[in-house]
Amino acid sequence: MNPDAVARLMLDEAGDLAGRVLVLDDADAALTHAALAAGCEVRAFCDDVRAAAALPPGTRLDSPADPYVRSADLVLLRLPKSLGALEDHCQTVAGAAASATVPGLRLVAGGRTKHMTPTQNQVLGRYFTQVRPSRGRDKARVLTASGPTGAAPRWPRSRHLPEVGLTVWAHGGVFAGTRLDAGTALLLRALAEGLRDAPGRAADLGCGSGILACWLARRGWAVTASDVSWAAVDSTRRTAAANGLTVAVEQRDGFTGVPPASLDLIVSNPPFHQGAAKDSTPTLAALTTAGAVLAPGGEFWCVFNSHLPYLQVLASAVGPTRIVARDRHYTVTRSVATAR
Ligand SMILES: C[S@@+](CC[C@H](N)C(=O)[O-])C[C@H]1O[C@@H](n2cnc3c(N)ncnc32)[C@H](O)[C@@H]1O
Repeated sequence: MNPDAVARLMLDEAGDLAGRVLVLDDADAALTHAALAAGCEVRAFCDDVRAAAALPPGTRLDSPADPYVRSADLVLLRLPKSLGALEDHCQTVAGAAASATVPGLRLVAGGRTKHMTPTQNQVLGRYFTQVRPSRGRDKARVLTASGPTGAAPRWPRSRHLPEVGLTVWAHGGVFAGTRLDAGTALLLRALAEGLRDAPGRAADLGCGSGILACWLARRGWAVTASDVSWAAVDSTRRTAAANGLTVAVEQRDGFTGVPPASLDLIVSNPPFHQGAAKDSTPTLAALTTAGAVLAPGGEFWCVFNSHLPYLQVLASAVGPTRIVARDRHYTVTRSVATAR
């Protein structure tokens, strides 16, 4: 695995690697491999289950708050796109530095210069007394932080949403945070008007904070909520618990491992971004397999930005599809699975 320009600059800024290293959101595992090659004890956490699955054996942590961080000498962090996700990581690392068994924990965070903003320095500055930017090199830049300020953690956090009657929990990087997204709101209004009264087995694909899953669970559906993101599935678990609801929660990519014809309903506000790129390929792959996991007559309710070509995809992958709601930005469709 050849480190890219960001990883190379991070490794140079980190200096001689030694001791215990924690690597966060190492999408291509290059930093993890480099720290292992330097002879360090290494653990790694990736929010996305697809990246986590590609980590070298024995390095993977299941949670960013694993106690390992308190004994680490160095944390290497690929800067996330979301400021909330960055803040979530900063508060964990700074909290660990404050209670560390080894003093002097350093955070070395790197990204591509075009994706970096001064606000990222401010987020680091809230949690660390020293924040030092590197010079740019090969379109990459690194921020090195140390010395915890003792600032109180702000994630995960909760908010009551009276419009859906739910208390919602979210970690920093979760889509829409504790807010109700406008597309999700349109889908919920359409479901409230048109969803059949006989509850069965349902899935919320890409559950985020769990609003759709909990809305269905409250109406008697046996719901499985799934997401590729650890922050999302942990948030959904918290949202379900806060509302006294039972929701099965799985961290997985699309419908991986879901038995054929095992669902009566799928609801989704699917993603169309992966990382910083606007890439709808994983979403199209998930929609394409939806027909197979629905029982004949099962329904797929989906909301998406109206410019996206999902209606045709749903019609061919699931079955007859019609538009049930629409506003200036979003389209809600209902597809009925045909026997296959
Ligand atoms: C637009 S958000 C919707 C979140 C939530 N359902 C809501 O309505 O607020 C899409 C979610 O899909 C998740 N996601 C992205 N790619 C995925 C994949 N391949 N499989 C499952 N979930 C995915 C993202 O992490 C994100 O939480």
